[in-house]
Amino acid sequence: MDITLDDTELALFKKLLYGIAGIHLTPAKKALVQGRLAKRVKHYGLASYRDYHRLITEREDELQVAVDLLTTNETYFFREAKHFEWLRAFAAARRRNGRPLRVWSAASSSGEEAYTIAMVLADTLGDGPMAPPWEVVGTDISTRMLEQARKGLYDQHRARDLPRPYLHKYCLKGVGGQAGKILVDPALRRRVQFSQVNLNEPLPDVGGFDVIFLRNVMIYFQPETKQRVVERLIHCLRPGGGFLVGHSETLSGITRSLTAEAPSIYRKPGGGS
Ligand SMILES: C[S@@+](CC[C@H](N)C(=O)[O-])C[C@H]1O[C@@H](n2cnc3c(N)ncnc32)[C@H](O)[C@@H]1O
Repeated sequence: MDITLDDTELALFKKLLYGIAGIHLTPAKKALVQGRLAKRVKHYGLASYRDYHRLITEREDELQVAVDLLTTNETYFFREAKHFEWLRAFAAARRRNGRPLRVWSAASSSGEEAYTIAMVLADTLGDGPMAPPWEVVGTDISTRMLEQARKGLYDQHRARDLPRPYLHKYCLKGVGGQAGKILVDPALRRRVQFSQVNLNEPLPDVGGFDVIFLRNVMIYFQPETKQRVVERLIHCLRPGGGFLVGHSETLSGITRSLTAEAPSIYRKPGGGS
């Protein structure tokens, strides 16, 4: 018989996930929490979700597994394509200033966003020895997603919005056992560094960025968490840099440090371009 998650148990996981990741689970997510954690409860042969909660408060490795399971990781190549047109124009305008161009995918999930950025930069700036220097950093709280991202191996359907020329230029088509898969070209993969960063905590030293993508993650945060996260990231944004949020998200009422340039696209004042 299936073990059910009761309201007090849901409250325990809600508090835990909010405390760690800043993610706000609504009561409507009860079925989702139960569904996602059921296999772990079963795996350990536990009698209740309360027992699993106790286990993850005692074991850091299993706590990471629970956080991985409770985050929503939906993403795909060229998601919200207007942002990549904007990035192309931004990179082209910056081409001559000689400073390395750094772009951060700050909730990169399984990596499609970071690789899309890298494809646009490689196409705009080049990736040979004479090209202006550029790099992409992808970070996420989920170690499972970061592992997938580093591999750069995807089911072909995730690339449905990837323009054909990019697919041919920057991806290898799987054959034999890998049929139906695409692999991001190793040369492009070398341009993208993935690491674990929890946006709900003070940031490690990540350096300065010209563009930050913070897309489709603020939707899980409460206003005060959004504010804290955005302020931390703005601190890492160079003057004149771009800050992009998901099409259904806004920074209105969250910060006054950025200027709205277009819906979901913001700029940090200064920098002369
Ligand atoms: C829906 S995906 C968005 C992926 C991509 N940015 C996009 O727009 O396609 C949200 C990602 O945010 C990550 N996330 C949630 N809370 C986080 C936190 N506190 N710190 C870092 N990443 C977080 C999740 O693990 C998940 O991979």
